[in-house]
Amino acid sequence: MSRQNYPKVSTELPGPRSQEIFDRQGKVFYTQMHQSVTCPLILDFKSDDELLHDVDGNTFANHLSAWGAAPYGSFPPSVRQAQIEAWDRYGMEISCFLQSPPVVELAERLVALAPGNLTRVAPTVTGTEAVEGAVKMAREHTGRPMILAFLGQYHGESTYLSQATSTEVSSISSGAASYAPGLVFAPYPSTYRVPFAKGPAPHDDTAVIDYIEQWLLRHQVEPTQIAGVLIEPIAGELGVYAPSQAFWDGLTRLCREHGWLLICDEIQSGLGRSGPVWAGDLWGLEPDLLLTGKGFAAGGQAMAAIIGTDAVMADTHVYTTGTYVWEPAAVAASLAGLDLLEPALENVKELERIGREVMTPLVEKYEQVGDVRQYGAWGAIEFVEDKVSQRPNSAVQSRFAHNILRRGVLGISDPGKWVYRMQPALTMDPDLYRWSCEQIVEAVGEVLTGS
Ligand SMILES: Cc1ncc(COP(=O)(O)O)c(C=O)c1O
Repeated sequence: MSRQNYPKVSTELPGPRSQEIFDRQGKVFYTQMHQSVTCPLILDFKSDDELLHDVDGNTFANHLSAWGAAPYGSFPPSVRQAQIEAWDRYGMEISCFLQSPPVVELAERLVALAPGNLTRVAPTVTGTEAVEGAVKMAREHTGRPMILAFLGQYHGESTYLSQATSTEVSSISSGAASYAPGLVFAPYPSTYRVPFAKGPAPHDDTAVIDYIEQWLLRHQVEPTQIAGVLIEPIAGELGVYAPSQAFWDGLTRLCREHGWLLICDEIQSGLGRSGPVWAGDLWGLEPDLLLTGKGFAAGGQAMAAIIGTDAVMADTHVYTTGTYVWEPAAVAASLAGLDLLEPALENVKELERIGREVMTPLVEKYEQVGDVRQYGAWGAIEFVEDKVSQRPNSAVQSRFAHNILRRGVLGISDPGKWVYRMQPALTMDPDLYRWSCEQIVEAVGEVLTGS
């Protein structure tokens, strides 16, 4: 190991100072903002060696990367510089009314990066707005009312999308799920977890295509009523699940046969997170609309977009912009980030290699580790009761999450979930990534066998 600094945790979690702040939070914030359960520490500062320092003096390896919105580490100097220069030059400006050169340049860069024949860009501030806009465009373009979505996906929080967001029925969408019309669902496909399949994985996820064709289209909705298919090429919040090539071939066929638009939500999976530039590149997808966000911000300010075909977007009346959309400093940061993308992809390959090498053997070794998935700089460990039933084991996940945090690795663990996720900067030092994966292996051993 060549690094100087490794994480170190020396207090209870939360530590006393963090706890004081949580107590204050509990009095002033609404519920969702004062849950210390998922992340029991308060950030003091970050250092450029990808460590997070909490107010109690503990340090943690950063496997959050601001949920993917800081893909080039916490302080990429070129992003910082570009942002400051643009702010000094243009100040805050409303780009949907008064544009500056970088705004157009960014749209051109995005089109050049996009797959297939995507030629138009609609800027938005958040990913949620990009999804909303894409749904409206699909309906406008086809004149059809329905969207086919997949159970378990996450597309953001808005009155409408709470319906299309079934990842967290019990917490996020609960009560907000007023059953808006215009959506039909199939289960999210993956070879690890697919409904109606029994026994150990891998399963045939084209069962989901059969379900769409033989059940949904026969008994629930006519194909001519469906405007588009809204899908995450890799379902992030659900647990980093990916469909098979055969599933994508089936879905593409259905889209062609019935005139459905393929809307790929790459807000989390895109821009290097999954290995290639777009996760859809893994299967040669050619979406009609592609949504980007998170990593597109490059660690600067909120940025998202819809990229689409001429056919759908050249004459649309759908309005996605607003006061804060693509303001110049955010645009400059995003542009500087795109310059970092290609070199980062090399590092992502290395992180993927390390993750697979170090963590995959856990599946062979432990009955309760159902699956280890690593796509690019995106890792997931799925805890189950046993490999045959694949019943979720959130109790083990939660004990594991506590153990690994005490070791100084801060990944993504939600209460009640059975998948633990790692989403580091694409540029994370491979040494720190290897160290983190090794800690994970030890923590799993400790939790499952006590050794
Ligand atoms: C796949 C996906 N779509 C949409 C969103 C919503 O993006 P935002 O939080 O920027 O509104 C997210 C956020 O996690 C996401 O993961």
